[in-house]
Amino acid sequence: MLIFYKKLQLTTYLSTIAGDKVTIGFVPTMGALHLGHLSLIKESLLNNELTVVSVFVNPTQFNNPNDLSNYPRTLEKDVEKIKSISSKVIIYAPTVDDIYEKGAVPEHFNFDGLENTMEGQFRPGHFNGVGTVVKRLFNIVKPTNAYFGEKDFQQVLIIKKLVKTLNIPVNVIICPVFREPNGLAMSSRNERLSEEEKNEAALIYKTIQQVKIKFKTESVLSISNWVKEQFKNVPNLKLEYFQIADETFLLPCKIINTTTNYRAFIAVYVNNIRLIDTISLN
Ligand code: PAF
Repeated sequence: MLIFYKKLQLTTYLSTIAGDKVTIGFVPTMGALHLGHLSLIKESLLNNELTVVSVFVNPTQFNNPNDLSNYPRTLEKDVEKIKSISSKVIIYAPTVDDIYEKGAVPEHFNFDGLENTMEGQFRPGHFNGVGTVVKRLFNIVKPTNAYFGEKDFQQVLIIKKLVKTLNIPVNVIICPVFREPNGLAMSSRNERLSEEEKNEAALIYKTIQQVKIKFKTESVLSISNWVKEQFKNVPNLKLEYFQIADETFLLPCKIINTTTNYRAFIAVYVNNIRLIDTISLN
């Protein structure tokens, strides 16, 4: 198993073994790997000659310093988990200085409004941080295919926009959400939940599953009010946002257009841990 801590070591290695004809699959992560990440890595291994996984908790995408300092950092365990599926994966686990030689400052991007809603609204600057690090990582790894989870659907649209605007030659591939047996979407943040909190958090997926059913017959307003009710008096859960939006521009749906694909998006605090989820509606 190869682990590089410096981009120069990684790029030198890749340029010696990966000529133009070698396909590189890339799975960018912030570590604390779970089965969802491992499914992305498996997908990459199946479809590329080389697979690179980055493990880097990117400071520029956190608008909340506590969230950044509490984010789980479990590199040794992550390496073991990757090894359990393949020893052929190349890991890149850089320091902040290796990615940000001139200090961890985000670039500013225009993602045509995709950055201003939902995650962008409640985590100001978040997508500038994501764009900054993904641009740098793509530039270092030069992947043919890059794999991202559907749970972060808004992030995937942002990355697709980044790639298109900057003309980066990479295919952005979206892979399905992985769930705990109780339906809770897998997330590195779940590591911080107690068993009781995990059980309570199952309400998030239960709710959006019901939303999918209601979407066939009810108005968006009535569904949104119903969702608010579900979280109203639940002691440890706080609904931050619920939104039904189209899958292309993420514009809030007011009146349902039968030719448009819609999706429900939700963010909920379980005590002080923030979780998001999404489901396609048609
Ligand atoms: O989804 C994540 O884990 C992160 O946002 C990413 C894409 C690795 C960038 O830091």
